[in-house]
Amino acid sequence: MRIDVITLFPELVEQVISCGIVGRAAEQRLLELCCWNPRDYTRDRHRTVDDRPYGGGPGMLMKVQPLQDAIGAVREQNPDARLVYLSPQGELLKQQKLARQVELGSVIFLCGRYEGIDERLIQKEVDEEWSIGDYVISGGELAAMVCIDAMTRLLPGALGHEDSAQQDSFSAGLLDYPHYTRPESYLGDSVPEVLLNGNHREIEAWREQQALGRTWQRRPDLLQQIRLDSRQQALLDAYISEAERTRKR
Ligand SMILES: C[S@@+](CC[C@H](N)C(=O)[O-])C[C@H]1O[C@@H](n2cnc3c(N)ncnc32)[C@H](O)[C@@H]1O
Repeated sequence: MRIDVITLFPELVEQVISCGIVGRAAEQRLLELCCWNPRDYTRDRHRTVDDRPYGGGPGMLMKVQPLQDAIGAVREQNPDARLVYLSPQGELLKQQKLARQVELGSVIFLCGRYEGIDERLIQKEVDEEWSIGDYVISGGELAAMVCIDAMTRLLPGALGHEDSAQQDSFSAGLLDYPHYTRPESYLGDSVPEVLLNGNHREIEAWREQQALGRTWQRRPDLLQQIRLDSRQQALLDAYISEAERTRKR
């Protein structure tokens, strides 16, 4: 999958392929990352990429022309990719949205800086706006890196175990179940018995129940968005009864 990023700080974005799962995916050529700096497309000797906002007010804005020309250069190599502007005003990102983009393939991320980007550029060039959360960061680079990392996890072959991404939180609309590793007992706290008995059916049922129960406790809004079958409902009911029983004690 090819990802282009238009950014004033390519050296920051390139860090995302320097290690870990994303780094390995880039080495395996599952992911190709190309950064484009609008400063390289300026036409004045100061290489100006920002200017004061019309109407006054604090801060600076990214100028249209360098961005427009950078987009033109990307499009010459990657004409059909969707252009996504990372913005706190965009659609709040969800796992499904990223999975859909991975299915669609190549994408161009546009990173803002300062107070943002001249609105005319957004109206003319941007296909979608994505937000990584209801807070404001100083530039789109970290948001682009979050997207690149999350999308890479969904690329076939990027994770050690093929099914790891399917078991992550949000993939099936639920939070992930709790995990344990050795030692079996640590400072008096033991691993749940069921995980030690080797009965894979019981382990699977326990994990599913934990995922349902955690989602009920921490993100009940997610449960509103999925339909549980009768078996899952029974698992959740049992989890809730147990949680209420231990709370009363
Ligand atoms: C300081 S912000 C500008 C915020 C803008 N004045 C506003 O309030 O909507 C600079 C850049 O950071 C990026 N950014 C900030 N918060 C973001 C978020 N929650 N999600 C994605 N990108 C964000 C955008 O690219 C934005 O153009």
